[in-house]
Amino acid sequence: MLGNFSYCNPTKLYFGSNSLENLSVELEKYGDNVVLIYGGGSIKKNGIYDEVINILNKSGKKVAEIAGVMPNPTLEKLYEGIEIARKAKADLLLAVGGGSVCDYAKAVSVSVNCDEDPWEKYYLKFEEPTCETLPVGCVLTMVGTGSEMNAGSVITNRKEKLKIGHVFADEKIMPRFSILNPEYTMTLPHYQMVAGIYDIFNHICEQYFSGEDDNTSDYIAEGLMRSLIVSSKIANVDPKNYEARSNIMWTATWALNTLIKMGKPGDWEVHMLGQAVGAVTDATHGMTLAAVSLPYYRHIMPYGLQKFKRFAINVWGVNSEDKTDEQVANEGLCEMEKWMKELGLAMNISELGATNENLKDIVKATLILEDGYKKLTVQEVEDILKRSM
Ligand code: NZQ
Ligand code: ZN
Repeated sequence: MLGNFSYCNPTKLYFGSNSLENLSVELEKYGDNVVLIYGGGSIKKNGIYDEVINILNKSGKKVAEIAGVMPNPTLEKLYEGIEIARKAKADLLLAVGGGSVCDYAKAVSVSVNCDEDPWEKYYLKFEEPTCETLPVGCVLTMVGTGSEMNAGSVITNRKEKLKIGHVFADEKIMPRFSILNPEYTMTLPHYQMVAGIYDIFNHICEQYFSGEDDNTSDYIAEGLMRSLIVSSKIANVDPKNYEARSNIMWTATWALNTLIKMGKPGDWEVHMLGQAVGAVTDATHGMTLAAVSLPYYRHIMPYGLQKFKRFAINVWGVNSEDKTDEQVANEGLCEMEKWMKELGLAMNISELGATNENLKDIVKATLILEDGYKKLTVQEVEDILKRSM
């Protein structure tokens, strides 16, 4: 543990099948005007909308709505939401949905009282808010991003073909509270469930494949990955299994709530490649990560060989006896590949809409980061994407 850090995570979590009961207690802490934010309608079909509206009404809140927040929320939609929140004089933004809805609520929160253009300020210049922000609360219905307990917010600019995430430094951008009921995730289509599972796994990988010191964070990461592998195999064949779904939900939160990044650098290049694929194709986030991961990890493995060997042994149970470090590390990635195929993840970007024609745009949209085992060149980005086709 060689890094210096401060750690604070103020999000209050309510977990379990009765967790929505706590919404009314939280609502008491805020003014009368609540803006309810949700996606394309899943919460109306599965009844979560009615449950939330009942509680809001009983609490005497005036409710305005931002509906139709799409997966990979766009800048245009953000501009629309800012106007609604301004008009409603919002005291609280209540996000009911997955990472897209929760990320979007944070983007509205930092923009409502801001005179500058949010895209320019937060997503191109990565500035921190200089205005009053609004509190965000979250009722989570899709598991994967960790947005329920972090300060990340990803917005897609369709015109510019860019999808950019800003992880705000100020912890007050994290949701003030999040309600996590594993049962709410059971209506997710299989495709979304496994995409979320891979998103979780990759968040852990992004923070694990970096650094060379002995670091407590890496041991926590290995435990989270082992739990996720066990529960994902169960949920894959028995999606209504509460124990597995609740473990997955809890792992997702701890995978990206800042805990396991403490004291070490992070890689995040798989997310940069995946986000570029998403910017051009609008594909599901977790699937974009799955489709580029193995070509990327196989490429950087020689530069972080000892960590890949450790990953193989401690996460995948590879027996290292009489094998070279390369053989052990390779076997780990082969085990990971088998697991990914078992879940039915996207294994190449062409099935997500990438073509030889739009590959150039994807290369151009890929940000190159510095903290992983190998800083990629633009040529390497292109090669990895070609190998992902
Ligand atoms: O829009 P509705 O109708 O609600 O349908 C959604 C959406 O189509 C559906 N869904 C959600 N809960 C459901 C459900 N369907 C049935 N039953 C339920 N209970 O699932 C679809 C996907 O939802 P979405 O919110 O887009 O998924 P996810 O949670 O994966 O969020 C993806 C967004 O989060 C960003 C991604 O880039 C992407 O924009 N990320 C945010 C991060 C963060 N804040 O730290 C980090 C991540 O790496 C990620 O980049
Ligand atoms: Zn992710």
